[in-house]
Parts: sequence; C-alpha cells; structure tokens
Amino acid sequence: MTTASAPGKIILFGEHAVVYGQPALAVPVNQVRADAEVTDIDRAGIWINAPDISLHEELSRLAPDHPLAAVIAPLLSPHFAGTKMGGPRGAGLQINISSTIPVASGLGSGAAVSVAIIRALATHLGHPLDDKQVSALAYEVEKLHHGTPSGIDNTVVTYGKPIFFSPPLLRGFSPVYGGDKGGASIQPLHVAEPFTIIIGNTGISAPTKESVSDVRKLWEQNPTKMNALFAAVGSLARTARQAIEGGYPERLGPLMNENHLLLQEMTVSSPELDRLVEVSLKAGALGAKLSGGGRGGNMIALSAKENAPTVAEALLEAGAKNVIVTHQIVI
Ligand code: MEV
Repeated sequence: MTTASAPGKIILFGEHAVVYGQPALAVPVNQVRADAEVTDIDRAGIWINAPDISLHEELSRLAPDHPLAAVIAPLLSPHFAGTKMGGPRGAGLQINISSTIPVASGLGSGAAVSVAIIRALATHLGHPLDDKQVSALAYEVEKLHHGTPSGIDNTVVTYGKPIFFSPPLLRGFSPVYGGDKGGASIQPLHVAEPFTIIIGNTGISAPTKESVSDVRKLWEQNPTKMNALFAAVGSLARTARQAIEGGYPERLGPLMNENHLLLQEMTVSSPELDRLVEVSLKAGALGAKLSGGGRGGNMIALSAKENAPTVAEALLEAGAKNVIVTHQIVI
C-alpha cells in the first residue's frame, strides 16, 4: 500500500487579481488535509473509493472530465510523460481518497486531493514524481475545477510552504500559468516573525469556477476599471511580502482590510463573509478579508496570538460553521 497526503491552503493576498498576472501570497493549512491510499487488489479494474463524496466506482465508468478520472487516467497510461510507470502488481488497484478540507470553501480542496492522488499513485507504480511534475499535473486538473486557474492553489498545496506567486504579466486575458510551461515565478515566502491567522468558514459552499467566471465577465465589460482593481491588489501583495519578510506582520492588518474592500468591488464578497470580517475586527483582529474564490467559503483574520481565542469565539458566535487558528512560524 502507498499513501500520500497534501494540506489545505489559504490565500493571504491577491486572489482573483492573480488570474490576471498580479502576484499573490498563499500559505498551507496543515490542520486540514487530503489523503490518498493506493493498494494492489486481486479484482480487475481501477476502483476509486471516495466515501466523502459517496463515490465507489471503477475508473472507466467515470466521465473522462470527472476531476478524479482526469487525475488518475493519465498516470496509468504506459507512456505517461515519457516515463515507464509500472503496472499494478495485482489484477487491479484500489484508490482510497479522503479529505478533511471543506469542498468549495477556498481552502484548496480540489488541488489537495489531486496532489495526494498523483503522489501516491505515481510512487505506487514505481515512478515517484518531483514537486514540479506533481504541481504541473495537478494544474491540468485545476482547469476542470476552476476554468482558468492561476496555478497558485496547486503550487502552494504541492510545495507545502508559504509562497509568493508571481505569474507572468498579462497581455489581455488568458490563463496565466501553464504548469511547467507557464513561467510563473514561485518564490518561498520567508516569515521573519511569527503571526496568527484565524480562518472562519461561512459554511456556504461557493465554487471558485463561478466567481472566477463572473470576474471575467466584469473584466470584459470594463477592463480599465478591473485592471486598476487588480493592480491595486498586486501592490498590496508586494507590500505584504515586505511586511512578512521584514518582520512586521502587524502591518498586514490594514493591508488585509484594503484587499477585502477591493474584493468587494470585484463583487466576490457576500453578506456572510462581510459579517464575519466585521465581527472579527470588533473582537480585536488587526485586519480581515475573504480568502479564495469568495461568495461564501472562508474568511481570514490576523490577530495577536493571545487574542486569537477571543476572535475565534466571536466568529463561532456570529455563525461561523468552524474556525481554524493557524500560527505561521518563522521559515
Ligand atoms: C482560488 O483559490 C484563487 C483564485 O484567485 C483563482 C485562481 O487563482 O486560480 C480565485
């Protein structure tokens, strides 16, 4: 049996604008994870068992564009990426998938499931892949989840470290990252002083694909206005990087508030997200914003470590479905 695991993620700054070439900051969330387990079995076929989504099916019975089929099938091709993957040692394979990352909530659930499966399956078939290959494969599947993903989710979930993700600048709209070929600059984000982020889940599931596609419509209608919003977000992301790497994480608070206002202007917030943001600030958070695709899913708040329980409690009282307190350590 071969197992692999991948963390969830949050975007600290830059969601949506990153799809249009602006830089963004993301960190892994290790408290929630996706796990994959691959075993040789005597029964023929590639059996996929994902109880969280009530799926128990043979691979060939899934539509080719089903995200799980799209992850698994290419790896089973005998000439996958010029490699010679070994076949299953039994008649077939069983792939068990489980995840504690809430789906459609901005925590990178789709990317983490892909990464865990790719790692476990490739290793099981005798050809472990490096992080760059894993991320590039997961990116292909992200296209099914997101339509036009920037590549930040698969990257942070694969590398499992804080990153400053900078796609090539756009000449008109296009997906900006193409896995290995896209030329995004992926730099480690050095955390000089620890800081605490509280993640509050609205409990509202909101597919990223929809918010990304709505932002695209707005961009098509008014590129000048939207480009200005994206550029403002990009500038916040660069300033935030300096604050984190310079050892002034408290400076992130006002930057998060500004980023949230810009996301509101992009129409990707929601009354529930705005309420949790407001509640966290009233409870003493230094700044707060939605995180990920928006319209539901999660918000994040920066807090002094000692005040984190108060902020977490306030979020739960205000209706957050669950709260995760993360401590970003020096790295
Ligand atoms: C989703 O986690 C982040 C978005 O910017 C989409 C993307 O970057 O692909 C909304």
